[in-house]
Amino acid sequence: MDAHAMESGTSTDASELTPLCQLDDVTDGDGLQIKIGERMLAVWRVDDLAFVTDDTCTHGDASLVLTGMLDGFSIVCGLHQGEFDIRTGEVRAAPCSKPIRSYAATVREGVVLARLAE
Ligand code: FES
Repeated sequence: MDAHAMESGTSTDASELTPLCQLDDVTDGDGLQIKIGERMLAVWRVDDLAFVTDDTCTHGDASLVLTGMLDGFSIVCGLHQGEFDIRTGEVRAAPCSKPIRSYAATVREGVVLARLAE
């Protein structure tokens, strides 16, 4: 086996996807915090779809997973009720004005994968 080739990887789409968790680890209509390196991410589940965003609200230092409430595709921050669209990270309600970062995500064979690289 060529370990170096495995480490360096190739530039296929699959190699850019990072497995985060099982879809079944996430309650439908809720989110799960996942720490990847220094990043705290949120994996959101709506039916059999998964969405991945940063977990920290851009208005303050609040975890959206731990304080927030998912309402359809909107995450409502528990601190001041700002809202973001989990599909795009866009702001849906003040006092938030800066979007949260969202990541392309997919579910394959029950595993949530996200493209975390720039
Ligand atoms: Fe999230 Fe203020 S900290 S709306």
